[in-house]
Amino acid sequence: MPRDENFLKANNARHLWHPMTHPADHLKNPPTIVTGGHGVRITDIDGHEAVDGVGGLWNVNLGYSCEPVKAAITAQLEQLPYYSIFRGTSNDAVIELAEDLKDFFAPDGLTRAFYTSGGSDSVESALRLARQYHKIRGEAGRVKFLSLKKGYHGTHFGAASVNGNANFRTAYEPLLAGCHHIPSPYTYRNPFNESDPETLAQLCLQALEDEIAFQGAGTIAAFIMEPILGAGGVIPPHASFMPGVAEICKRNGILLIADEVITAFGRTGSWSGSRHWGVQVDFMATAKAITNGYFPFGAVMIAEHIAEVFEQDETGKANIAHGYTYSGHPVGAAAALACLAETQRLNVKDNAAARGAELYAGAQALMAKHDVIGDVRGGHGLMVAIELVSDRSTKAGPDKAVPGTVQQVAYEAGAMVRVSGPNIILSPPLVVTSEDVQTIISALDAGFNAL
Ligand SMILES: Cc1ncc(COP(=O)(O)O)c(C=O)c1O
Repeated sequence: MPRDENFLKANNARHLWHPMTHPADHLKNPPTIVTGGHGVRITDIDGHEAVDGVGGLWNVNLGYSCEPVKAAITAQLEQLPYYSIFRGTSNDAVIELAEDLKDFFAPDGLTRAFYTSGGSDSVESALRLARQYHKIRGEAGRVKFLSLKKGYHGTHFGAASVNGNANFRTAYEPLLAGCHHIPSPYTYRNPFNESDPETLAQLCLQALEDEIAFQGAGTIAAFIMEPILGAGGVIPPHASFMPGVAEICKRNGILLIADEVITAFGRTGSWSGSRHWGVQVDFMATAKAITNGYFPFGAVMIAEHIAEVFEQDETGKANIAHGYTYSGHPVGAAAALACLAETQRLNVKDNAAARGAELYAGAQALMAKHDVIGDVRGGHGLMVAIELVSDRSTKAGPDKAVPGTVQQVAYEAGAMVRVSGPNIILSPPLVVTSEDVQTIISALDAGFNAL
């Protein structure tokens, strides 16, 4: 029985807990109930329509009306709604998808796929496979992981352990032993008090070298990083940073895992974040836009030279004792096949670059106008953050209610934006038009004017 609107509003958070929220908060401050999506717009239960400046959650890159993906999901549900690909069985969709992913990621040197059900799963799988790689090669002591402070890698215990933000760690500690963090190249705030991006990148690289020397290179399995930090507040490093990390990792026998759960498939203006910086990595964690958010799915992409080590093992150590019931879900694979085709047909990376430049310029113009904006970060595709402060000279954080007010008024003025701590994060679908970008900026302007 469909429930009426009042029932839905009254019961929203009564019998469900929302992720990333205090259970009492949603009872006091009921969330917007989204009931429809079309193009790059969403509609709520009251019939209010807004441009989705969030893109679902960095995943609805092709918008809400991507018919080929919907059709592929429907057809696959009719033909084979599920079959496992654990040892001994496979399904046709996953085989086809692996071929297309191999072609798509060929310039990244990534030739094998390991399927998952989402981003945290992909990160977990990459971390595990990295440890196993060293064990196969007789370096069983390489078990530690390094990562960036401010990085976000999801919420499994593995992912939370490499996460660089206390918000996602403290309540769930103790986390995995042997995970260590280095400063991120965040020019607005960093322990070096350095605002020049290139100099800061060098300082962070030195910190990485220092940490490796301290831990002992032979104890470290992998370094994991987002090519452009997303949830931590859109932190694009200087162009020298990721190549520098790759060189240091290689020299020390440490595997490099790119967490591209957000950046793969065009968001940065390049087909992958690693390609954006001219780096080839050992593992790439992907999810989100692989199915346009229409089906929970992910893939860890694996470099040819890593795959060879596993495939040539004759000792049995390369047996993969890891995987999920939904690793290789045929409906997810069908969605991903259609999504990949549509992503390339529309060449969304170029629109992401062009519209991203407009969004970044628009956010900078807002900063020139509103003192509450302390920093604007972007310039690489459709990922932009606006960091709010109460005082530009001290960089003290905004009053608690401020980001929420901006968000609420912006929503009423026609754009959904996301608040994360002091940041307003913008990650619209990659198919937005210049007009949609202007709607997001003018809605935010209204939000700032309301303060
Ligand atoms: C870079 C990155 N890695 C991992 C994750 C976790 O993905 P999921 O929420 O699908 O588990 C996210 C989610 O936002 C992410 O941004």
